[in-house]
Amino acid sequence: MPETHSNPLDDPTANPFEVASQAAADIARLTGVENHDIALTLGSGWGKAADIIGETVATIPATEVTGFSKPALEGHVGTLRSIRTPGGKNVLVIGARTHYYEDHGVRRVVHSVRTAAATGAKIMVLTNGAGGIRETWTPGQPVLISDHINLTADSPLEGATFIDLTDLYAKRLRDIARGIDPTLDEGVYTQFRGPHYETPAEVQMAKHIGGHIVGMSTALEAIAAREAGMEVLGFSLITNLAAGIQQTPLSHAEVIEAGREAEPVISALLARVVEAL
Ligand code: HPA
Repeated sequence: MPETHSNPLDDPTANPFEVASQAAADIARLTGVENHDIALTLGSGWGKAADIIGETVATIPATEVTGFSKPALEGHVGTLRSIRTPGGKNVLVIGARTHYYEDHGVRRVVHSVRTAAATGAKIMVLTNGAGGIRETWTPGQPVLISDHINLTADSPLEGATFIDLTDLYAKRLRDIARGIDPTLDEGVYTQFRGPHYETPAEVQMAKHIGGHIVGMSTALEAIAAREAGMEVLGFSLITNLAAGIQQTPLSHAEVIEAGREAEPVISALLARVVEAL
């Protein structure tokens, strides 16, 4: 008997781009919106943005869409939403990130990004909650991602697929964001595997190799977005200073709380940026 897979992406013979096309067809059917212009992945702290970007046309449970899985964590909403901005753009809001540390494989991690591309989105906005290495940053502060260091030792690209990652986090889009908020600082995002937070020594390593932000998402997704031909804009909410930079131990509760407090301000910022893209 052939093996059955509850998620088609768990079948190694499946073509992940075909699964993404099916997911995009599911989204079109369930939302009634044929094409999206921009996609937005909302990480911890950024969830409220979905309420103020525009008018929600449809909200669908991610589990109804081919290849998506239930979110592993409190604070990560498992829905997909189609929103129409006042300016008339269709925005696909992805509240269902699969993290690399969940161990479902990198195909599942980047499925939402490939699906976004298959819905027609040309711009992928990736947001997350993360630790800050720069001592001048304070919890609750949003920063732009200028580049990344991928410490997962993995890639969403399969086979000999060579993709240029110069200007991965498009300067054009960062400039638009700074046009909305000129105080936005930026830094290099370092993706660790997690789910443990980093040791202080690992944070020092990240600092020495050029990182300013530490987190457990985004870099693999950004690579897949570029492969799919999208422009990427990345934002981190600094929920805490990274281990050893702040003198107190890190906790998931602290990260969620910082996100909750910052949410109204950063969501308003994100809504304005999305309208300007
Ligand atoms: N490290 C990694 N991921 C995180 C952190 C951190 O300090 N804060 C929020 N997500």
